[in-house]
Amino acid sequence: MRCLVTGAAGFIGSHLCNELLAQGNEVWGIDNMSEGRHERIKHLFNNRRFKFAICSISEKQILFKAIQQCDIIYHLAAVVGVKHYVEDPVKVMEVNLVYTFDLLEFAWKLNKKVVFASTSEVYGKNNTIPFSETSARVYGPATANRWCYAISKSAAEHLCFGYAQQGLSMVIIRYFNVYGPHADGSAYGGVATRFIIQALTNNPLTVHGDGNQTRCFTYINDIVKGTIDAGSKPEAEGKIFNLGHYHEVSILELAQLILTLSGNKGNIIFQPYEEFYGSYFEDIPRRVPDLTAAERILGYYPRVSLEEGLKKTIAWYRHRLSR
Ligand SMILES: NC(=O)c1ccc[n+]([C@@H]2O[C@H](COP(=O)([O-])OP(=O)(O)OC[C@H]3O[C@@H](n4cnc5c(N)ncnc54)[C@H](O)[C@@H]3O)[C@@H](O)[C@H]2O)c1
Repeated sequence: MRCLVTGAAGFIGSHLCNELLAQGNEVWGIDNMSEGRHERIKHLFNNRRFKFAICSISEKQILFKAIQQCDIIYHLAAVVGVKHYVEDPVKVMEVNLVYTFDLLEFAWKLNKKVVFASTSEVYGKNNTIPFSETSARVYGPATANRWCYAISKSAAEHLCFGYAQQGLSMVIIRYFNVYGPHADGSAYGGVATRFIIQALTNNPLTVHGDGNQTRCFTYINDIVKGTIDAGSKPEAEGKIFNLGHYHEVSILELAQLILTLSGNKGNIIFQPYEEFYGSYFEDIPRRVPDLTAAERILGYYPRVSLEEGLKKTIAWYRHRLSR
């Protein structure tokens, strides 16, 4: 197969490229490097089955030609990270929705399959746990910028279904808090990586809010396997799948676990949401996936426990920081 991966130099995209190549595929990667990192993919440049272009998915002609020459598109390029959502909702809607519209249109015209990376954020603040793929999506007011990401991905899902109705072959996967080596550890990145870097650099771990909000953190290897299986199983076509973990943990528990596993004696400090995200911010209190559909149709099971995944990730960052 020749696979096109958008967002190939991103955290998940780069791991996906690795695995698709390891399975013998040819991989074409596109990334505009807004958040992409060369170090995530530099080892792939020796592989003759890997091609990479620094380019935005807004470049319609290039995108069209790339789609024309590939068998399947893994569409991961997006603006990701809660701080981005509150700071630049226009960019979020533009990349995650408008450019996705073009990509789906081209894939539909060219009769190519799309695997669309969506998110557990689409469930919003629905408080009926766990979230199954048919659960309602519940959002706050438009004045709270944080919802723009969930709505951009949700609207893009509607586009996927709209084009599927016209014949597009597609599958949607909703990731739940992914972590692992190469994830973004900046203020814009995920909480697990941020905590690991704070712990390893002997800084206090900053918990936003009271820390009672819960998430189900999923190790990157499980996510990559689920993504490839979703793209390759004919039974998955036209469906949505949650890809996550069963283990629900509060953010405060996560911080304590990372302190223990990293051997750091640092402390935990609490920061009000408003101080970090600005005046009007709403968080999602609990986020837990129902994985029945992924188990039944994809054979998905999150194999890496939180403790094991964190140990691997801490070891990776420790090595990286020591260089
Ligand atoms: N990491 C998670 O926990 C998580 C959870 C749910 C969903 N997702 C989804 O998974 C996908 C990958 O997320 P990630 O964590 O790897 O994020 P990431 O930011 O590391 O990767 C996204 C990549 O897209 C690239 N990009 C952004 N705009 C682009 C454009 N216009 N043209 C080309 N490339 C562009 C960025 O440079 C970046 O490398 C995203 O679609 C995201 O919404 C991630």
